[in-house]
Amino acid sequence: MSRILVTGGAGYIGSHTVVELIGEGYEVVIIDDLSNSQADVIDHIEEITGKRVPLHVFDLCDKSRLDQFFGSEGSLDGIIHFAAKKAVGESVEKPLLYYHVNILSLINLLKAQKEYDIPNFVFSSSCTVYGQPDKLPVSEETPRKDAESPYGNTKKISEDIIRDFARVNDDKRTIALRYFNPVGAHESGLIGELPSGIPNNLMPFISQTAIGLRDQLKVFGGDYPTKDGSAVRDYIHVVDLAKAHVVSMQRLIEDQQKSNYEFFNLGTGSGLTVLEVIRAFEEVNDVKIKYEIVDRRAGDVVQIYADTAYANDELGWRTERDLDDMVRTAWKWEQHLAQMRE
Ligand code: UD1
Repeated sequence: MSRILVTGGAGYIGSHTVVELIGEGYEVVIIDDLSNSQADVIDHIEEITGKRVPLHVFDLCDKSRLDQFFGSEGSLDGIIHFAAKKAVGESVEKPLLYYHVNILSLINLLKAQKEYDIPNFVFSSSCTVYGQPDKLPVSEETPRKDAESPYGNTKKISEDIIRDFARVNDDKRTIALRYFNPVGAHESGLIGELPSGIPNNLMPFISQTAIGLRDQLKVFGGDYPTKDGSAVRDYIHVVDLAKAHVVSMQRLIEDQQKSNYEFFNLGTGSGLTVLEVIRAFEEVNDVKIKYEIVDRRAGDVVQIYADTAYANDELGWRTERDLDDMVRTAWKWEQHLAQMRE
């Protein structure tokens, strides 16, 4: 049985990936500093899968603690690295924090990968590396652009570090996955996105408005050159995204790569406007979302969606969940959180 380290495994995408890995027979161990997640996620993963996953709570920037972990852990077949800071606005305010945490943790992990001879590595990247692309949809051949934020830049720099590392380490295999907009939650309603404070992202803001935690949603921009004036994104169900990580790890373990550093876009291939997402949430869940259209948000791109052909053909992976599934499970999760608060 293959053993996989999942960093950030208590987080949003990490926890869903842990569930899918266990479902495919992998043994999983998590490192998470719980800076943006909670330890009880491990209980919920156990409720869903019947497996108790070991959780090691520490910061990956602490190399000596990481050495202690690998020294006592026994052999591992791969690492899926989610742990990172991800708030775009905060990264503008605190650039050094973002460069420090996101880059140092990656370097420490790659060093450990070499020192402890762990062959396979899957990295969490983002479509933010494309900026506002000149041509849509965005394929893997689309050139990357200057990042709009320090957060985005950490993803770009991380990809470069991994590429350069792979060049001189033939025996190490890596896949970077460029996510479009992950939304929704596990069908059980037991795990999902847990934004701390006021959410920056659209879907948690919609569901918090629906449940009454927020007065109203601001739709950033109503005058974009799109079909209804609001911005377009490629929303992907988090479970489909999680499954892509399992498939990528399998590809690495089975040594099926074309080169030892590959990257793939993970989206559905179709763009949706903010207003379309709001409408779907209202209709599918039979709730009303109070919203107003306000000015554009600084740094937002007009529209972006993925060309999925390369991921479909090479990984043999495709999305199976639609917008209805995304808004339905997002609402189920928000209701679960409300019950927990009672
Ligand atoms: C961006 C990045 C993504 C990053 C994510 C982390 C791009 C293309 N994507 O996603 O890589 O991982 O931030 O936060 O750079 N919106 C509203 N009202 C709200 C919130 C959002 O109208 O209250 C709109 C936004 O203007 C945008 C869409 O909803 O058009 C999606 O926004 P969001 O969920 O924040 O994700 P991105 O900004 O696309």
